Amino acid sequence: KSDSTYDYIVVGGGTSGLVVANRLSEQKHTTVLVIEAGGSVYNNPNVTDTFGYGKAFGTDIDWAYKTTDQEYAGGSPQIVRAGKALGGTSTINGLVYLRAQAAQIDAWEAVGNKGWNWKTLLPYFKKGEQLQDPTKYPVLDGSGVTFDPAYHGFTGPLKVGWPSTQLNDGLAQKLNVTYQNLDVPVQFNNDPNSGDMVGYSLYPKTLDYELNIREDAARAYYYPYQNRTNLHVWLNTHANKITWKDGHEATADGVEVTLSNGKTTVVKAAREVILAAGALKSPVLLELSGIGNPDVLSKYGIATKINLPTVGENLQDQMNNGLQFESKKSHDDNKSTDYVSYPSAAQLFPNSTALGADLLRKLPAYAAQVASANGNITKASDIYRFFKIQWDLIFKDGIPVAEILLSPSGNTYSSEYWGSVPFSRGSVHLSSADPTAAAIIDPKYFMLDFDFEAQVQAARFIRKVFSTEPLGDMAGAEIVPGLSTVPAGADDEDWADFIKGKYRSNFHPITTAAMLPKEIGGVVDTSLKVYGTSNVRVVDASVMPFQVCGHLQSTVYAVAERAADIIKGRL
Ligand code: FDA
Repeated sequence: KSDSTYDYIVVGGGTSGLVVANRLSEQKHTTVLVIEAGGSVYNNPNVTDTFGYGKAFGTDIDWAYKTTDQEYAGGSPQIVRAGKALGGTSTINGLVYLRAQAAQIDAWEAVGNKGWNWKTLLPYFKKGEQLQDPTKYPVLDGSGVTFDPAYHGFTGPLKVGWPSTQLNDGLAQKLNVTYQNLDVPVQFNNDPNSGDMVGYSLYPKTLDYELNIREDAARAYYYPYQNRTNLHVWLNTHANKITWKDGHEATADGVEVTLSNGKTTVVKAAREVILAAGALKSPVLLELSGIGNPDVLSKYGIATKINLPTVGENLQDQMNNGLQFESKKSHDDNKSTDYVSYPSAAQLFPNSTALGADLLRKLPAYAAQVASANGNITKASDIYRFFKIQWDLIFKDGIPVAEILLSPSGNTYSSEYWGSVPFSRGSVHLSSADPTAAAIIDPKYFMLDFDFEAQVQAARFIRKVFSTEPLGDMAGAEIVPGLSTVPAGADDEDWADFIKGKYRSNFHPITTAAMLPKEIGGVVDTSLKVYGTSNVRVVDASVMPFQVCGHLQSTVYAVAERAADIIKGRL
């Protein structure tokens, strides 16, 4: 293997990497190598089981990245999970297939990324998707499942749909009535993947309806194509850094890897090196390769090849909490109940207009605080610009400000939730020149009080939903946090211990190699090429400039599909 040369080397055989590898290897004379640190999980029941969420956590297919102690959230570290396997995080995620609000993707263009907007991304959401039409499955009749075919693809590699295990006992309809009975009703949304997410819906998942198993990136984009002779995958192989051609230009000529037998070697790339190692790894690989902030690199004796100080900056994640209630009726745990509501600011905050005005006044101070907490590497004036766009999305465009899931299980109802668009930003950086060393990951959860406010308000909203008929009559006492822990009518301070003490990462890290103009902190340009290099790209969740209200994978798949067309020279 050590003297092989490939046209393209894709680092990371995960969600985005396998899309790009698949599409590039459609060109028969183009050779593609995927380097993947994990192994195959094709037959791993912790992966395939559509009810298996969480079973893979803490096993050897979970990177289980640890953050620094989170100073704004009680001081404890968090674990941010990510898949270490062919298929990457799509092999351990929650299967949810929910995109973004159109205005959020349009904001990518508004911030300076020409050509990246909802209209140009929608064809790629559809290209990748193989929606398993629920109208063809009688078992889904009456389950409440709806969709608008105009927004879906039916022939792409990735199977998406509702499971054959979908609950069909009228609960979905009762929840809908409950949402309509709120004092500020949340309407039914026929298709939250249409670019308008606000409302209550039954969402689809990445699964194979017929086989009732998880559909992940490997099952969709690799295994059916594994016989292509121009597509190679090296499993259990760790990429250490990019290697460079001699000369002044930053042109990559390969990747240093440690093979499964422990031997370190270099594999050559004739055309490009494409990073797809995930938002907590790709920026670190750039740093190990000499691309980043010279102050950071020099600490570890790494010579700066390209001075690009925002590598690893602008890390954004969400915070996840959950409420739980007793149920008067026992539920069958082998039934799927994929119910989501996405309230807008006007629906979530009782005082939305005043809150918006107050937040607008605070934005310059927020931007200064974020810049200063991160060493002023991204300028406060640029962060202010991002924040103003985010404010407009929330208070003018009416994007969802929270996601609220509801699932019955046994004698309980659980409701996980999170504020969709926190303002806090942190960073991820290497901690050593050793490529296997853990990175320093600091998302700065709860740094800004709006993020906490959204989390508290979502909890109050859930309490209101559970006291509204007909759900109110079906549910019993609140178990978590329980009224003895957080009394009815509790103020923000009373909620703080629970919210900051019991939250977890929502596992949606992004923006650590942001697609943005270079002068405002970008790491990659609109062709996803790293500034200053002639042939290195990043195609994973790192490049998304703003958080999306849906879950990340659908947008990761779509971005990677578009990236492949860019690399092929079609855009
Ligand atoms: P991804 O992690 O998929 O790929 C990176 C790959 O690179 C991995 O295979 C990794 O092993 C490999 N790699 C890393 N470093 C390497 C190195 N040095 N050498 C070689 N290989 C290396 N989203 C959603 O839409 N719906 C959901 O329900 C959920 N639920 C969810 C639950 C959990 C627990 C997590 C952790 C995440 C989710 N998500 C989600 C998020 C979503 O799954 C995630 O954002 C994307 O899959 C990320 O895709 P990427 O391509 O960016 O990285």
